[in-house]
Amino acid sequence: MRILITGTRSGVGQSLATQLLQRGYEVVGCSRKPASIEHGSYCHYEVDLTDASQVRDLFTDVRRRFRHLDGLINNAGVSSMNHFMMTPEAVARHIFDVNFFSVLNCCREATKLLQRSAEPAPSILNVSSVAVPWALDGQLAYSASKGAVEQMTRVMSKELAALGIRVNTIGLPPVRTVLTRTVPKEKIDNLIKRQSIERMCSMEDILGPVEFLITSQSAFVTGETLFLGGVN
Ligand SMILES: NC(=O)c1ccc[n+]([C@@H]2O[C@H](COP(=O)([O-])OP(=O)(O)OC[C@H]3O[C@@H](n4cnc5c(N)ncnc54)[C@H](OP(=O)(O)O)[C@@H]3O)[C@@H](O)[C@H]2O)c1
Repeated sequence: MRILITGTRSGVGQSLATQLLQRGYEVVGCSRKPASIEHGSYCHYEVDLTDASQVRDLFTDVRRRFRHLDGLINNAGVSSMNHFMMTPEAVARHIFDVNFFSVLNCCREATKLLQRSAEPAPSILNVSSVAVPWALDGQLAYSASKGAVEQMTRVMSKELAALGIRVNTIGLPPVRTVLTRTVPKEKIDNLIKRQSIERMCSMEDILGPVEFLITSQSAFVTGETLFLGGVN
């Protein structure tokens, strides 16, 4: 199976790509900076996903080189923690550009390649956060952008069902990455206490649910958001 994962230079995307490569998948990755993964089945594109023309060029080249995709994982994301009164409009717009509009553009372009998949249930997997159900203070623009992604998942799952393409979201609790490095430990600990399973989510915790949602194991599942850790 060939999966395109966005944001594979670091964090969740890098770990997912590495783990899926170890399990025999072919992975196309991208981020603004050069690859941090070396593997015979890995191909990296340097792309700023907020630039729609770069997104189009990315998928045009993937189509030329590989003809089709079996899955798309929209992982690249940014956050900025601050009271909304202290958040400049440009910062909020950038968060929406990366977390919402680039996802929308990747889905549009990837659909053309997913339609060519020979897999029984090609799919798109988006990434959301506990910041949505918990309406975390200090994360207004971030949680709103991820809430929009969850709604995108529900609507797009209906619009792509006729093409045989599924769309789901995985909702992550705190994971140790660059994205969370500035969040004080006490704040992370308090979030973990709110999970039913009171421990930090590891990269290995994410792999199984991702593999389930991206493969035909979940052929009859679409429009869903699956939260890890027990988040209610
Ligand atoms: N970490 C957590 O606790 C947590 C919790 C809930 C949800 N999430 C979600 O999980 C996903 C991954 O987060 P993470 O923690 O792994 O973040 P991360 O370590 O900061 O990685 C983000 C990745 O996205 C890429 N990226 C950022 N802006 C980009 C752009 N404009 N164009 C192309 N690539 C771009 C970065 O690479 P370059 O710098 O090379 O572009 C990097 O590879 C995000 O959607 C995040 O919202 C994370």
